[in-house]
Amino acid sequence: MNDLHPDVEKVLFSEDDIKDIVARLGAEITKDYEGKDLVLIAVLRGAVVFMGDLMRAIDRPLAIDFMAVSSYGAAAKSSGIVRIVKDLDMDIKGRDVLIVEDILDSGLTLKYLIKNLSARKPASIEVAAFLWKDIAGKQAAINPKYVGAHCPDEFIVGYGLDFAERYRNLPYVGVLKPEVYA
Ligand code: IMP
Ligand code: MG
Repeated sequence: MNDLHPDVEKVLFSEDDIKDIVARLGAEITKDYEGKDLVLIAVLRGAVVFMGDLMRAIDRPLAIDFMAVSSYGAAAKSSGIVRIVKDLDMDIKGRDVLIVEDILDSGLTLKYLIKNLSARKPASIEVAAFLWKDIAGKQAAINPKYVGAHCPDEFIVGYGLDFAERYRNLPYVGVLKPEVYA
């Protein structure tokens, strides 16, 4: 996949950029979670690619679990409505939870999830977001502890991120041409 996808306007993060970002985050998390009971929780489906890379960059014993929530559908703007479609299989009581997210935009999805998971009494709960659309004048509802990179407020696809379930398999992160979702 060396050629740019025709629906992609430009590449924001190449495969090499992504490798560097994940290695840095993995090292930070490895340092911070010594002696902890780490559970990575990925939010399906967008975070699976990042989860697969990040878990291998963390040099600590850990467990993984998955949740599915729906907030976007096929639209490009957040509805603010979050629904749990698939819950955890694991009990997280007393454990150190790290939520793994593909991209943080309004933060409404994560705000809801943190509230929901906190009620299950984990020892700690933090967020690792691969991308953060934290542009000026736009405040996210939460503050992630681990952030891979900051990105512009455009519609982004690849490395797990979709538009209408497409483009998740692109190995890079790119900006979707507006005419594709207009
Ligand atoms: P939030 O609740 O507004 O923070 O939205 C977070 C979720 O919306 C992410 O987990 C993504 O699934 C989706 N999302 C937000 N921005 C984009 C984007 O630019 N491309 C693809 N998905 C996005
Ligand atoms: Mg999505």
